Amino acid sequence: MNGPVTGGMSTPPPTRRSVLPPMSRSTLPPMTNNGMAPGGCMGSPRPPLPGQGLRRPNAPHLGGNRPTTGRMNNKKPGLNLAQLGLAPKPEQTPFANFSKYVDPSGKLNFAGKAIIHADGVDFSNGSSFTIKMDDLKLLEELGKGQYGTVQKVYHRVTNVVMAMKEIRLELDETKLHQILMELDILHKSTSDYIVEFYGAFFIESCVYYCMEYMDVGSLDKVYGSGVPEDVLAKITTSMVKGLKFLKDELSIIHRDVKPTNVLVNSKGQVKLCDFGVSGQLDRSLAKTNIGCQSYMAPERIRAANTYTVSSDVWSLGLSLVEMAGGKYPYKYDNMFAQLKAIVDEEPPTLPDHFSEESRDFIAACLHKDAEKRPTYAQLLEHPFIQKYKDVDVDMAKWANEAHAARLAAKQ
Ligand SMILES: Nc1ncnc2c1ncn2[C@@H]1O[C@H](COP(=O)(O)OP(=O)(O)OP(=O)(O)O)[C@@H](O)[C@H]1O
Ligand SMILES: [Mg+2]
Repeated sequence: MNGPVTGGMSTPPPTRRSVLPPMSRSTLPPMTNNGMAPGGCMGSPRPPLPGQGLRRPNAPHLGGNRPTTGRMNNKKPGLNLAQLGLAPKPEQTPFANFSKYVDPSGKLNFAGKAIIHADGVDFSNGSSFTIKMDDLKLLEELGKGQYGTVQKVYHRVTNVVMAMKEIRLELDETKLHQILMELDILHKSTSDYIVEFYGAFFIESCVYYCMEYMDVGSLDKVYGSGVPEDVLAKITTSMVKGLKFLKDELSIIHRDVKPTNVLVNSKGQVKLCDFGVSGQLDRSLAKTNIGCQSYMAPERIRAANTYTVSSDVWSLGLSLVEMAGGKYPYKYDNMFAQLKAIVDEEPPTLPDHFSEESRDFIAACLHKDAEKRPTYAQLLEHPFIQKYKDVDVDMAKWANEAHAARLAAKQ
């Protein structure tokens, strides 16, 4: 992001302009006039949960003190439920716990930080990012995560192709915190190693945020049978610089470092996304990637609330072993066996053909004792990074070839 923009969306430089042909909307599920599938968020055509529908303009406001509209208004004035003493007390309504976020006008209000509404997001420092569903043309689905779908979209106003992430709100405070953190961080982020933020808006029970579209995709989709060492060195450098930026400049730890959250574009740039997952997510293993691959450090598995910056260093090391070897390094039938292996077994290593420096780098990241893992500054000084520092690795060529191989494999 090139700094906050007042009164409009940050206009990305012309180099970001789409060269992709616009695609037909007809392949997508039917949309209502606000661009949503009937009954819920765009990527999740299912009815909203009781108490949802936060932003429908004519819907009664469930948690605040706005008067009810509709049939009740046709009646003669009389006693209302509150006057009869029958109205639910604020703390009994589904939104009681969220009143600090959902304001009476139906906007999502993150006190003192940002207000998200249907037409964009206003930040407390006066900057605003105006982007709305009507201005977007849906192109294709890029992937699905735990919280919703990521779509490739075309922003007609700026002629820019973007990635739009949908986050369903299910009255889960954790998610609201996550959104706030991510928006706040994206808003403040100006780093070559972090995806650029274009804007966000709020419709019905979903927050949508638009970010830089990374046309090659996430690393899990392009590492194939494993990336060569020089490419791995450049990916590592970008990831460490991104993580160091988050920590030094924004005082945050990423908490969700894994190949799906490392994105690549056809210029060969490597950038992080999806930081700021609330620590609350980690409190329950039941909620965390059951049946999937875990990038959690051993200390997080042993004591769920333990999270320091070194836990991200572990996840970095594990992600790198996966990218180098072409597969997630722990292989067990069930999640518990996998987590037990992370805690009890020797950490995974790089395939044999990797250099001593790279193997040492990984061993340092995957130290079982969190306190013995290096800092980001130390990692940048490590012989593995230094060895490739002045080597001109053609990352664009690698990225485009990897992308082409992926597309060929899909056909
Ligand atoms: N800015 C982007 N540009 C291109 N592709 C993206 C972008 N953001 C996300 N994607 C793709 O969309 C997919 C889904 O992303 P999402 O963050 O919802 O889930 P995830 O990271 O795969 O998993 P989880 O929900 O467990 O974090 C990603 O795997 C990635 O391939
Ligand atoms: Mg992600």
